[in-house]
Amino acid sequence: MRLRRASCLTCYWHEGEFVVHPYPGGTPTALHPAAAEVLAAFDDWVEPAKAAESLDHLTPDTVAEAVQALHEAGALLAEGSDEADRDEKVARRWQTWAPEASFFHYATQDVPYADLERAGGNRQGEADTTPVDTAVSAVDGPSHSMFTEYPDADRVLLPRRPADLRVPYEQVLYARRTHRDFTDDPVPLPTLATLLSTVFGPVDYIDSGRSALFRRTSPAGGSRQELDAYVGILNVTGVDPGMYHYNLREHSLELLSPGLGRDEVVRLGAGQDWIGGVAFLVVLTAVIDRMSSKYHTPRCYRVSLLDAGHLGQTFALTATALGLGPAQTGAFCDTPIAERLGLDNIGHTPLYVLAAGTPHPDPKWAPPRATLDTFRATTLR
Ligand SMILES: Cc1cc2nc3c(=O)[nH]c(=O)nc-3n(C[C@H](O)[C@H](O)[C@H](O)COP(=O)(O)O)c2cc1C
Repeated sequence: MRLRRASCLTCYWHEGEFVVHPYPGGTPTALHPAAAEVLAAFDDWVEPAKAAESLDHLTPDTVAEAVQALHEAGALLAEGSDEADRDEKVARRWQTWAPEASFFHYATQDVPYADLERAGGNRQGEADTTPVDTAVSAVDGPSHSMFTEYPDADRVLLPRRPADLRVPYEQVLYARRTHRDFTDDPVPLPTLATLLSTVFGPVDYIDSGRSALFRRTSPAGGSRQELDAYVGILNVTGVDPGMYHYNLREHSLELLSPGLGRDEVVRLGAGQDWIGGVAFLVVLTAVIDRMSSKYHTPRCYRVSLLDAGHLGQTFALTATALGLGPAQTGAFCDTPIAERLGLDNIGHTPLYVLAAGTPHPDPKWAPPRATLDTFRATTLR
């Protein structure tokens, strides 16, 4: 039987052990690091005995044992097998997204609900000493701080009288568009204050069974509220340009570093020119421990990304209702943004950049309508 190394395979050291982790569905298996050399001999379909010839510094028994373990783990695939067929299909379909995106996607699939709180993905040969607790709401893990605050920072206490949000739902939903053209009119402070409190402020507090959690206008996995809002001010009445943190408990903007220019915003926004025209940015950042202290499985990193999407949508709808033009970008320079915000980019890291400004009546970046010719050039089915 000829074997080949799986194309969808990630190897790493974890807690001192060398692990081969094929995906999708393969078993992460701790092996001797010589397994990497054995895998290297299976670049293409080959009989194990033939492959062993290039591994003549290892004993035949060692090679045979390693081949068996790698085959059982799914890191070596048999020619003509369903697993080999699937491996080829996954590798072809995910192409340039592999291995980073495909590995994360598949390695975090199919986690049973009851396992959400146990130690993430026990590898073969590792003992699981973490108790499984299916009563999700009863265990919060080690205590973590619910709020991020900068007690020593200078701050702007924000007005509490809400700007008018009473726009019909249907009108808001269909009026929402991503804006990339803005006027130079500053955004009034009460408008920004209403947007921040509506999207990021606490709505109420609940008892998780062990500690208090708060809820927002957006749903959030486990109500962990691991996402913080950092605000880059360019053109808002009564607030100097600079980088701030939105203190949601106090409803204030805490000054982290003064000054912010349009050129810098373009650089932080991965060189997108339009972003230099916004009145303010909101960087959503994840406090990893707030989520991982309860949910140990790496799958819950997905939940943080989903949480960011929910907040992004609530931001866009609320900004629209307030008469602002919202925008969002997945393209941004993570490390410079983290540095500019004074975040360590380890336990506290940027995930998503939202922005808004006064919408331009005659936008030049708005996409043109699709015409008959556009549809002619499109594969519709
Ligand atoms: C997660 C996400 C990331 C996005 N990233 C960018 C981006 O990097 N640059 C950009 O100009 N627009 C970005 N957009 C905006 C989309 O291009 C826009 O939503 C899309 O064209 C549909 O238009 P609409 O928002 O007006 O419905 C992003 C939108 C989302 C939801």
